[in-house]
Amino acid sequence: MHLPDYKEAKKRENTPYQTRDYQLKQNLRDKYQGKSYFLKTYGCQMNEHDSENIKAMLEELGFHEQEDYRKADLVMLNTCSIRENAHNKAFGMLGRLKNLKEKNPNLFVGICGCMAQEEGVIEKITSNYPWLNFVLGTHNLCDLPNVLDRAFTENKQEIEVYSKELDMIENAPVLRDKSYKAYVNIIYGCNKFCTYCIVPYTRGRERSRKKEDILKEVKELIQKGYQEVTLLGQNVNAYGKDLYDDYGLGELLEDIAKLKIPRIRFVTSHPWDFTDSMIKVIGKYENIMPSIHLPVQSGSNSILKKMGRRYTKESYLCLFDKLKKCRKHMAISTDIIVGFPGESEKDFQDTLDLVKYCKFDNAFTFIYSPRENTPAAKLKDDVSKEEKEQRLYQLNEIVNQYFLENNQKHIGKVEKVLVEGKSQKKEMYFGYTEENKLVNFHGKNVAAGEIVKVKILEAKTWSLDGELYES
Ligand code: 5AD
Ligand code: SF4
Repeated sequence: MHLPDYKEAKKRENTPYQTRDYQLKQNLRDKYQGKSYFLKTYGCQMNEHDSENIKAMLEELGFHEQEDYRKADLVMLNTCSIRENAHNKAFGMLGRLKNLKEKNPNLFVGICGCMAQEEGVIEKITSNYPWLNFVLGTHNLCDLPNVLDRAFTENKQEIEVYSKELDMIENAPVLRDKSYKAYVNIIYGCNKFCTYCIVPYTRGRERSRKKEDILKEVKELIQKGYQEVTLLGQNVNAYGKDLYDDYGLGELLEDIAKLKIPRIRFVTSHPWDFTDSMIKVIGKYENIMPSIHLPVQSGSNSILKKMGRRYTKESYLCLFDKLKKCRKHMAISTDIIVGFPGESEKDFQDTLDLVKYCKFDNAFTFIYSPRENTPAAKLKDDVSKEEKEQRLYQLNEIVNQYFLENNQKHIGKVEKVLVEGKSQKKEMYFGYTEENKLVNFHGKNVAAGEIVKVKILEAKTWSLDGELYES
């Protein structure tokens, strides 16, 4: 048993790590043939991509997917810690699973992901959830087959969570959700330690994958016919800093762009690590999509300082302007937190002013949620719940208005759309433009994975409507 330890997780020394290939013990292959699994994923794209690895590892063990969790032999929750409500959702699901397990004691339940790395969560699990079969941390996800097998054969609760980063595993099996667009990890962890954020504790320090491994993965995806890759990391702009002196995100983007895959995206960018040379590369290659997620969090310099964001409103806007100018069209989206401890009405108005200047194409807005063990959780929180809710409402009214205004600018234009399929009502196809806008459109004989031209006819707040353009 290995339990998480926050004191260890806080230490940032650069302990060397090895890169090694994933290996499945031969006696485990197909050992669970005939058993089914249900996997529920919470949180960000990083977790979504981890789940693509989890599925593949489970299927190598012989499991097959079951869409109804009530009928599965194994239920796994890939959890998220980012805000309180992510916790609540996972604990709510655990409550339902407890009831199910009372009726069916053979049901196996495991959790992994960010919640597994939290001391408080593990204490709660060991004392109140003795029926939970296994817990696996983020640093040893690829150990899933062994931990799961031990839990099954020894029939006791297995908790395997390491507080420090372990070896970096390459070539883990992956069962991708889509055959035309793929996530590719480029960097794990985060060294920024924004005062509100739990991620540096749950995901560890920044560790970049070797450029050769990333380029090999992208080349293989291209050979398989993939049209789009999204490079993933908690902070992709720090790519390479831990490995190379003169090779970072800009150089990596350039090398991938030269491979001629039609679409390249990357998330998430920390403004502090965005360099002019990266912007130059983004300006130069048309297959780097003109859509950047650039979280601002707040428009108030005093709040940005308390958040430990390392930039000011002025330097954010300077970067914003440069990015807007580097391409003919550039969509910029953001994340904003309201109700951070000590946020005054004036601070909030500064955020609204910034939003009015930037007119973001998309914005994810949140009420601040104190997270265990983070510095901000110790600050006196003097903004009332009602005030926070009121600010979120007011902010959403304004950001939504800009989403619509930005979308309206596309009416009458012909956009390139990567088709994803047909909408639920089966009447219209849907897909995403280069600027990452969702388009529903009428057309014929179009297949998922094709890039087609669509004429935009109507704009809504969160999507566009159009028709296939046949020139
Ligand atoms: N409370 C509210 N929002 C948070 N985020 C991260 N931590 C917190 C927190 N404690 C938001 C940030 C980040 C996004 C992924 O989640 O805006 O960019
Ligand atoms: Fe959740 Fe971790 Fe992703 Fe944040 S980084 S959204 S906590 S999985």
